[in-house]
Amino acid sequence: MTKYFYITTPIYYPSGKPHMGHAYSSIVADFFARFKRIDGFQVHFLTGTDEHGLKIQRAAEKEGMDTLKFCDTISQTFKNLSKTLNLSNTDFIRTTEKRHLKSVQYLWNELAKNDDIYLSKYSGWYSVSDEAFYNEDEIEENNGKKIAISSKSLVEWVDEESFFFRLSKWEKPLLNFYEKNPQFISPESRKNEVISFVKSGLKDLSVSRKSFSWGIKVPGNKDHVIYVWLDALTNYLSALNYPDKNDKLLNNFWPASLHIIGKDILRFHAIYWPAFLLAAKIKPPLRVYGHGWILSGDEKMSKSKGNILDPIDIIENYGIDALRYYLIKEVSFGNDGNISQERLEDCINSDLANNFGNLCQRVVAFSLKNCDGKIPNKIEFHSDDLKILDKFKNNLNTIREKIDNQDINFYIDFIVNSLFEANKYFNDQEPWKKKDDLIRLNTIVYTTLEIVRKISYLLYPIIPESSVKALKIFNINEKDIDFSSIENNEFLIKDKKINKIDILFKKIEKNND
Ligand code: ME8
Ligand code: MG
Repeated sequence: MTKYFYITTPIYYPSGKPHMGHAYSSIVADFFARFKRIDGFQVHFLTGTDEHGLKIQRAAEKEGMDTLKFCDTISQTFKNLSKTLNLSNTDFIRTTEKRHLKSVQYLWNELAKNDDIYLSKYSGWYSVSDEAFYNEDEIEENNGKKIAISSKSLVEWVDEESFFFRLSKWEKPLLNFYEKNPQFISPESRKNEVISFVKSGLKDLSVSRKSFSWGIKVPGNKDHVIYVWLDALTNYLSALNYPDKNDKLLNNFWPASLHIIGKDILRFHAIYWPAFLLAAKIKPPLRVYGHGWILSGDEKMSKSKGNILDPIDIIENYGIDALRYYLIKEVSFGNDGNISQERLEDCINSDLANNFGNLCQRVVAFSLKNCDGKIPNKIEFHSDDLKILDKFKNNLNTIREKIDNQDINFYIDFIVNSLFEANKYFNDQEPWKKKDDLIRLNTIVYTTLEIVRKISYLLYPIIPESSVKALKIFNINEKDIDFSSIENNEFLIKDKKINKIDILFKKIEKNND
C-alpha cells in the first residue's frame, strides 16, 4: 500500500527579496521531504508565495509598479531560490493563481453556509507588516508609536465594516482537538502558549477588509476582500485542487502530514487554520511545527529590519550543500539560533571536508591501490566490523521515529558520531599494515565502503548533491537510494568496480587576523 506524505513551507510574502529565514524553513522542509521519499513514501512538497493584502499592495505602490507585475517579479525570485536551494518541491503555488481563487471562495461559502460568518464592524489595531489584528493588551508604545509587543511592528487603527468568523464558537472544539491530538502543535514547548491563548478566550475574527482592493473578493459582496490569512492558509488545500472530491491529490494527501513554519506565525496555523477547517468540516492537518528564528545579533533576521544575511551570497561563496548542512547542524531545530560565516567555515572544514570528504577519498584511494579498484570479494567480518556496521541496523527504526517527531538534532548527531567512528575505525584497523592478511585487509575496506554508503544515504536529505556525488563511487543513482537498505551489511556487490570521485568539499583557508 502506498504511503503518502504531504509537507509544506509557509508561502512567503513577495514584499522583498528572500532571505536566510525563508531559506531555512525551505531547507528544513526539503530535508523531511527527501527523507520520506528515500523511505518509500510518495511525497507532495509544496512551497509558494502569499501575494494578496495591504502589505503587498503598499510594497508595489512604493516601487511605483502594478501590483500583479510586482508580484510576478518577486515571486520569480522565490521560485529561483527554490532551485538554488535544490528543493525537491513538487509544486509552487501563488495565491494570485486561478486555482487558488476558486478554492478560497469555495471555502468562504462553506463557512458562510454553516453560519460561521456574519457582517459587523471592526474597530481595533492592525499591523500591516504582520497582516494581523491585535488586542489592546498586545500593543505597547515605543517612541510615541504604537507597536505590537510580539513582533515590534507598527500597528494602525482600523475602523470599518467587516465580515467576522465566529472564532469564539470554536474555542471548546479547538481545546478538545488539541487534547485528542497532543502532537498537533510541535515542538511541545510551543504548545502551552497556544493553549493558554485559546483558554484566555477567543474573540470572533475579522475576515474581510473594505478599505483596499488587492485580494480575493468576498463571494457576493464586491466591496470586501477576504482577509489575507484566510486566503493564504487555504493554499495548502488549493494546491490539492480542493474542493474537487474526486481529485487524486486531495484524496491522497489531505490531511497534510506536516506544516513547517516559523514560530512567528504559529497562532495562524495552530488556532485559526484548524478552526476554519473544523468549521468547514475538513480534517485539520496532522502537525504544525513552529521552528525558531535565525537571529542576527539578538534580533530576528527580517526584511523589515534590514539585518539580513543573503543566502545567495553564501551559496555563491561556499556552495549550497555547505549552507544546507550548516543550517541543519548549527541551528538546534526548534530553538532560535545565531549564524555566522566563521562558524560556517569551521563546519565545512571539520565536518564536510575532513570527516566526510576525506573518508571517502581515503578509502577509495586505498581500494584503487590495494583491492584492484573493486569491491572486495573475500571477507570475514570480526566483531569490530560488525559493531560499527550494526549500529545502523539497530537504529533504523529509532531514526524513523525521531524523524516523525521532527528530531533533526538526533539525526544530525547520529551522522556526526558515525563519521567520527568511521574515521577512527579506519585509522585503528590500519589496513595498510594488513598486506599479508588479505582477507583482513579486504574486510576492513569492505566495511569502510559500506559505512560510506550508509552515511551517504543518511546525508542525502541534508546534502543531496554531495551525497549523490559520493554514491558515484558505487554507481548508485539518486533514484535507487533506499533508506531501509542501511540495515544491510552486505549491500555492496562484490567484485564490482568502484569509481574515483572528485573532491567533495574544499577546505576553506582561514584568515586568522
Ligand atoms: O508570514 N528565522 O510570510 P513571510 C527563521 N506569508 N525563519 C524565518 C525568519 C527568521 N529570521 N524570517 C522568516 C508570512 N522566516 C506569510 C505566511 S503561510 C500560509 C503565510 C520564515 O514572508 C519562517 O518560516 O513573513 C516564517 O514563519 C516565515 O519565513 C514568514 O515568512
Ligand atoms: Mg514575516
